[in-house]
Amino acid sequence: MKGIVLAGGHGTRLHPLTQAVSKQLLPVYDKPMIYYSLSVLLMAGIREVLLITTPEDNAAFKRLLGDGSDLGISIKYEVQDSPDGLAQAFVIGKDFIDGEPSALVLGDNIFYGGGFTGMLKRARTHAEEGGATIFACKVNDPQRFGVVEFDEEGHAISIEEKPRHPRSDYCVTGLYFYDEHACDFAANLQPSNRGELEITDLNQVYLEKGQLSVENLGRGFAWFDTGTVASLANAAEFIRVVEYHTGVKVGSIEEIAYRSGWISRAQLLELASRSDKTDYGHYLKHLAYSH
Ligand code: G1P
Repeated sequence: MKGIVLAGGHGTRLHPLTQAVSKQLLPVYDKPMIYYSLSVLLMAGIREVLLITTPEDNAAFKRLLGDGSDLGISIKYEVQDSPDGLAQAFVIGKDFIDGEPSALVLGDNIFYGGGFTGMLKRARTHAEEGGATIFACKVNDPQRFGVVEFDEEGHAISIEEKPRHPRSDYCVTGLYFYDEHACDFAANLQPSNRGELEITDLNQVYLEKGQLSVENLGRGFAWFDTGTVASLANAAEFIRVVEYHTGVKVGSIEEIAYRSGWISRAQLLELASRSDKTDYGHYLKHLAYSH
């Protein structure tokens, strides 16, 4: 199974914060935003990752993450020349995906909550057996997002991109699992009215085939798309408080790699030493010496 992190776009809704720095490299409390989305793929057991960035920001992501070998994974890079839609990830990533099932996560999404690992496992199995899974979350402002409507048994019956009159309060979050047909379906999509290859249209293909599963993130689950200054600040404050009170780091890619057995204790200590002046580095060091 392959994984794509999409970190394109100009982050115009965050200007001037993102005038010189990619949005997905901005800090969310103690680590760069991209850590959180990448950690979701790693939690799903995905070790082959494609990171899609803008041409200008590609080098900065490489400085941060390299080829992934420090984490016992492989990270490849591609650029998206202009933000022509999320489904374009499956056009740009076709060679990388190479006929396998895949997962796509948006580089500005943050997920935190109980039962997530089980959901990721189900989504992965569904993609490997044939089908797609999306993750829904109840929100106050559904018109800002993709919106999914359910029947009484909880099956998805419609999915719309940024509808003026949403049919439900459930938004589609930026995490998608697909079987091996995603690239073929994406190649046949037409640009929407706003000129983009919409991920919602790709999901619609699976919905029409009766192959779209929806995981409801459920009560108490926290999901952030850090798209505005206020939501970015909320996310940072949330992570700070959760980490302080649980003693556990959210979105630590080094921790996941270590706990998954992809890197040794010595490799974890090496990673920790790069941040030896911060609480983040101390956390990794402590992890290496705990049982
Ligand atoms: C995109 C998708 C939308 C989804 C959202 C989640 O919107 O098009 O369906 O709900 O991500 O973050 P964008 O953030 O690109 O406007």
